[in-house]
Amino acid sequence: MRLDRLWQRGRAFLGCDYAILGGAMTWVSERHLVSAISNGGGFGIIASGSMTPDLLSAEITATAALTDRPFGVNLITLHPQLLDLIDVCLDHRVRHIVLAGGLPSGAAIARARGGGAKVMCFAPALVLAKKLVRSGADALIIEGMEAGGHIGPVSTSVLAQEILPAVRDVPVFVAGGIGRGEAILGYLEMGASGCQLGTRFACASESIAHPRFKQAFLRASARDAVPSVQLDPRFPVIPVRALANAATQRFMEMQRSVIERFNRGEIDQKAAQLEIEHFWAGALRRAVIDGDVDNGSIMAGQSVGMVSEEQATAVILRELVDQALTALLAREEAEKERIGAVG
Ligand SMILES: Cc1cc2nc3c(=O)[nH]c(=O)nc-3n(C[C@H](O)[C@H](O)[C@H](O)COP(=O)(O)O)c2cc1C
Repeated sequence: MRLDRLWQRGRAFLGCDYAILGGAMTWVSERHLVSAISNGGGFGIIASGSMTPDLLSAEITATAALTDRPFGVNLITLHPQLLDLIDVCLDHRVRHIVLAGGLPSGAAIARARGGGAKVMCFAPALVLAKKLVRSGADALIIEGMEAGGHIGPVSTSVLAQEILPAVRDVPVFVAGGIGRGEAILGYLEMGASGCQLGTRFACASESIAHPRFKQAFLRASARDAVPSVQLDPRFPVIPVRALANAATQRFMEMQRSVIERFNRGEIDQKAAQLEIEHFWAGALRRAVIDGDVDNGSIMAGQSVGMVSEEQATAVILRELVDQALTALLAREEAEKERIGAVG
């Protein structure tokens, strides 16, 4: 395939046909979607979220029963049993472990690599990208603020320009705001080894997300996917991009009331911060699994506007690849014409 020249490094690293990763989405990226992405030629990744080691072990077994293609596991570095979860992956011979949700310790990276897995880490800035490579990361993911879920402050296009030309030692995959193959081609031409998409896969027919969750995605446009707002720097809010709903509104009102109570001396700093942090506890599950799209968190990236129908995962992947190929062909044709005109 003509794209091979561009994403061969990513394909070889992942061991799949297309260097397109299905970004782990807690509650969504379980056995069905993950195996469908891998069976479709991409690279599925299980979202372990807050799973216990036993639950993760069962999920890996179930996924492996649905695909004989490679897939990875995404682990949250803050999980209290992180090292046990790494061991579960190693016991199951999972070859790719993604360490997400904060900078991983050298010990976690070493444990995974020592057991034969390749470690992928999120790099939110160039200095950290270089540090992660020094710490042993086998590949990096750079994810811009257009993405769904927890986000950093910098856009995908800026991270790509800063990091892709400067990090050559390991493959770098680009994520955040990618909805079509032309964008994948663009990042490959900038030096990416592949791309990671989440939002685009959330509504796949194989995704177990509740029909109301999927319906919210199908109706939404880019501007509906907004980051959570922090009202007072004394009470930090981790930015999460999700579709605005009644809960988003209530979160603002709740912060306002907590801050007023704190200012009046009715609660201390710690209690106020906890109240704010607890607001979203269990909210993603409520939206994805229970279909409570008013009170849950409908995490979605800005590419949600490009999700217009429920499609089979294999069709989504094929569509992305075809769009990239068509754009590449058009460029090659234009180049030929230009050279012909000059000659
Ligand atoms: C509903 C949802 C849940 C997510 N959960 C996780 C997660 O548990 N761990 C993680 O590393 N990233 C998570 N992400 C981010 C995705 O893995 C992926 O990097 C991101 O969706 C890519 O950007 P895009 O949404 O613009 O395609 C989540 C994204 C969404 C939309």
